[in-house]
Amino acid sequence: MTEKIRAEKTRAGVTGWPVAHSRSPLVHGHWLKKHGIDGSYEKIAVAPEDAVAFYGNFAASGLKGCNVTIPHKETAAAACDVLDEAAEKMGAANTLWLDEDGRLCGANTDGIGFLGNLDQMAPAWDDRHDCAIVLGAGGAARAIVWALCSRKFTSVHIFNRTFEKASEIADQFGSSVYAHSWDKLGTFLGKADLLVNTTSLGMTGKAPLDVDLADLPKEALVTDIVYVPLTTDLLKQAAERGNRTVDGMGMLLHQAVPGFEKWFGVRPEVDEELRRLVLDDLEQTS
Ligand code: ATR
Repeated sequence: MTEKIRAEKTRAGVTGWPVAHSRSPLVHGHWLKKHGIDGSYEKIAVAPEDAVAFYGNFAASGLKGCNVTIPHKETAAAACDVLDEAAEKMGAANTLWLDEDGRLCGANTDGIGFLGNLDQMAPAWDDRHDCAIVLGAGGAARAIVWALCSRKFTSVHIFNRTFEKASEIADQFGSSVYAHSWDKLGTFLGKADLLVNTTSLGMTGKAPLDVDLADLPKEALVTDIVYVPLTTDLLKQAAERGNRTVDGMGMLLHQAVPGFEKWFGVRPEVDEELRRLVLDDLEQTS
């Protein structure tokens, strides 16, 4: 390979602290290979004390763009010249790229990943969009509330252990989003078209998510952003009583699509082969 070709190779990667656990290299590596692209996707550890300088002078990294993971999503957003609507709303970016004018652009693709997963796995899932119930009020919940508002849900009800955090999100998104304390969940389940768990409850090694689904309409879709285990107790319980369910793996895969397209110029597919690859990796390492 000549020096010239090597110099033109497009580089991207995942940045954060730590990054060792990230599955993003597996996903993007699969797509690079599948499309025969001579690019790279690396793990780049950015220590907290270096984050402002790294994102603030991003062009010096030699990267075309990157994903951003914990704890740098806010720092990355602050360094961007241009933000998409979701990143602007969330004050956090998980996907960065340099445009042709050298401006640093940022997007938050968690909400897009959430929607892409449901669109693929449960077609027409948002035909019924009167009432969504969101459990949890962290960063993922904020992205999902944004996504549900973009699909015109009439009401989105957030239930969280810490009421103030739910309230903050509700205040930000306006009159169709409501905050509630956890103990009020039973009163609302009977109206739900969609139930989403965005808390870490039910994840391997964490406390179980204890929700009684007895009042949930049979037509409601139930989804969980936890994907280890893939079939959480919530999804199992919902499927056993006849509800449609979608696991959280697809959100992880779909949120990666816009970045790959920006950096490498090809819109990649989330297919069964990719899903299997990541599942096998999770099985081997957990
Ligand atoms: P992320 O940004 O990935 O969404 P996070 O900000 O840590 O992660 O949010 C985790 C969510 O799980 C929060 O809604 C959290 O509730 P609090 O806001 O009250 O902390 C919720 N959560 C985590 N552990 C919990 C527990 N043991 N009981 C109830 N909720 C819990």
